[in-house]
Amino acid sequence: MTARIAVIDDEAPNRAYLHTLLGLAGFEVQVATGGNEGVALVEKERPDLVLVDIMMPEVDGFMVCERIRKGPAGAATQIVVLSAADGIDGKVRALELGADEYLVKPIESRELVTRIKVMLDRAERLRQQGSQLRGRLTVVAGAKGGIGTSTVAMNLAALAAGGKAPETVALADLAVPVGTLASMLNIPVPDHWGWGELLNDGAASVHRLSSYLMRNPQVPLRLLPGVRRGSAYRDVRPDAVSGFATSLRGLGETIVADLGNQPSPFAFPLLREADVILIVVEPEVICVELTGQFLERLKETGILSHRTRLVISNPHGSLQLSRTEVATTLKMEVAAMILYQRDEFSAASKRRLPIVIQQPQIPAAAQFKELVQAIAAI
Ligand SMILES: Nc1ncnc2c1ncn2[C@@H]1O[C@H](COP(=O)(O)OP(=O)(O)O)[C@@H](O)[C@H]1O
Ligand SMILES: [Mg+2]
Repeated sequence: MTARIAVIDDEAPNRAYLHTLLGLAGFEVQVATGGNEGVALVEKERPDLVLVDIMMPEVDGFMVCERIRKGPAGAATQIVVLSAADGIDGKVRALELGADEYLVKPIESRELVTRIKVMLDRAERLRQQGSQLRGRLTVVAGAKGGIGTSTVAMNLAALAAGGKAPETVALADLAVPVGTLASMLNIPVPDHWGWGELLNDGAASVHRLSSYLMRNPQVPLRLLPGVRRGSAYRDVRPDAVSGFATSLRGLGETIVADLGNQPSPFAFPLLREADVILIVVEPEVICVELTGQFLERLKETGILSHRTRLVISNPHGSLQLSRTEVATTLKMEVAAMILYQRDEFSAASKRRLPIVIQQPQIPAAAQFKELVQAIAAI
């Protein structure tokens, strides 16, 4: 695959020179004439590498580095700063803001091309190692809305990192028609549903997908944001989703997916691929009945129950059914029970943080830990 490079430079002769040089070296080159245009280009096209000039009016190269790193193109793009200034302060600042390399102009064309090739080769090697990674996939689903499905998925993922780097855990929001995890985690995402387009391109590679992962620095995980209002998730083809389910595993050691409570093109490919399926159920008769019907459908489609567990979640404080009654009625093991804790959940949700992060000492956190332990052995 031809590597793609974006050139951001306000001076036309520089753009023309780099366009020709890199084009001749076999790269696909796109150009932007300033910082704002450059950041927009990078977010839209997700190039493999960005070459950016430092001295530009309005949005300069430093701001471009910072905005790319903080934006949805995130960590996946490599950034090379080209500058006539050789001062140490500027170099340090550019690197601290997210540049991977700082090159001082004038630079020999042969050196520039070679450096770019070396950087891209190295990234490709790391990517291939990454795509061999087969993380453990836990899928969380409910038979009804408003019962805490997303809360379970989010807290499970937040606990999974367990002191390790945030890169080890990915949380995928696959709930339709609208995903709520980005707002529950206070992660601003663009209006359109970016990565959904990858599915229909048939190119949901680990690398492309990981460029859509986003973070709230207070939470040790990366989020694949959910469907936005008005996005055409219904057009997603089931065969494209099968490949996607496999790619998801490349995103970390632990992947937790929120499937929500509505039928969707994601449901069966993901349930088939999952190592662990958690069915969230509220301890009251209607929800238990709907859950029973959902479990029947799973059985009919050959999805094996030995990977499936119930999680009792009680966001409305229902006192109708006990843990044993739920397990007996549904003929399935209960991995954990998250009790009704109105004020604690309300405080966590107001702060837009998982309760296990916001209030790690309270019973709810212990109940989520019980869940992690119960599914570790599956
Ligand atoms: N055990 C609980 N006790 C009290 N409130 C809870 C509990 N679990 C979840 N909630 C709250 O219930 C609401 C719905 O949860 P959510 O996870 O969005 O449900 P779903 O994904 O099933 O629609 C949220 O405001 C959440 O904070
Ligand atoms: Mg939800």
